[in-house]
Amino acid sequence: MMERTDRHYRYFMRQLTGRTLLYTEMVVCAALLHGDRDRLLGFDALEHPIALQLGGDDPATLAACARIAADWGYDEVNLNVGCPSDRVRDGQFGACLMAQPERVAACVAAMREAVSIPVTVKHRIGIDDRDAYEDMADFVRIVAAAGCDRFSVHARKAWLQGLSPKENRQVPPLRYGDVYRLKAEFPHLAIEINGGITTLEGARTCLGQGVDAVMIGRAAYDRPYLFSAVDQEWFGEPTPPRSRHGAVEAMYPYVEAWLMKGGRLNQIARHLLNLFTDCPGSRAWKRHITERATQPGAGVEVLQEALALVPPLP
Ligand SMILES: Cc1cc2nc3c(=O)[nH]c(=O)nc-3n(C[C@H](O)[C@H](O)[C@H](O)COP(=O)(O)O)c2cc1C
Repeated sequence: MMERTDRHYRYFMRQLTGRTLLYTEMVVCAALLHGDRDRLLGFDALEHPIALQLGGDDPATLAACARIAADWGYDEVNLNVGCPSDRVRDGQFGACLMAQPERVAACVAAMREAVSIPVTVKHRIGIDDRDAYEDMADFVRIVAAAGCDRFSVHARKAWLQGLSPKENRQVPPLRYGDVYRLKAEFPHLAIEINGGITTLEGARTCLGQGVDAVMIGRAAYDRPYLFSAVDQEWFGEPTPPRSRHGAVEAMYPYVEAWLMKGGRLNQIARHLLNLFTDCPGSRAWKRHITERATQPGAGVEVLQEALALVPPLP
């Protein structure tokens, strides 16, 4: 998620879950080819398994970017066919590509050819008036034939005109039934469902309908601690969940290393704001970080002080 799932957020999430697949923000191909690759691609080994999401529509360019992703050690490359923003639409990629399944197939085929890591696609159930189940099924059939390894389906259509990206995540109704039907009709394909899933019970309900995986977006940012139980409950890991306090303390060496490299505390701390949501002390935690983490010279002590304002939780 743009402005959300940067390297610091991902490193923080790794204090809560070692097994969940994490995605980068969308990186536009042109930026990757011509921009600062350390900034766009840099990640810590702890962040594995990690997928790089690309935005683009040109097979050769996407293949080159997929190769760069593989060289950098990414575990998966994911093509964004779900973003409806004007900027993306004007570049002719994102959700508008749902109207061009052959083009997406050519992109996937080129990426598949270029790398041995999985190549996956994130898309919507439809766009504009092209929103019948059959339209999506055609899209998936054509793209699957090109070798797509997994489809992550945001179970809402997108309106390319008239709705903001935010409205496009809220206004069109969720149609989980279309995603379940997709899995039922294409049982050999890996289908991941996305959209409006905010609890592990909700995720379990979706899995009970046969889909292979669940992608959680906003709730992963707004309630990161949701993921603390995932390794044990879903991946069968023996280690019990880390406490919220423990997760913050585990970040200290990372914070110090980042500051030593010239980074700023708030680049990391902003992603920790929601850790105590709905817990006593959450407001004081947020206020302390918001007021102090942006100040010049702010260091790890800001997190320590903020943590001292939150009573230990059971
Ligand atoms: C701030 C923000 C940024 C997002 N950026 C991306 C993005 O870069 N790539 C993408 O595929 N989806 C992006 N999304 C959409 C989410 O991945 C997800 O599909 C959508 O929010 C619905 O899932 P949710 O209800 O679990 O949040 C973004 C969502 C938000 C709120």
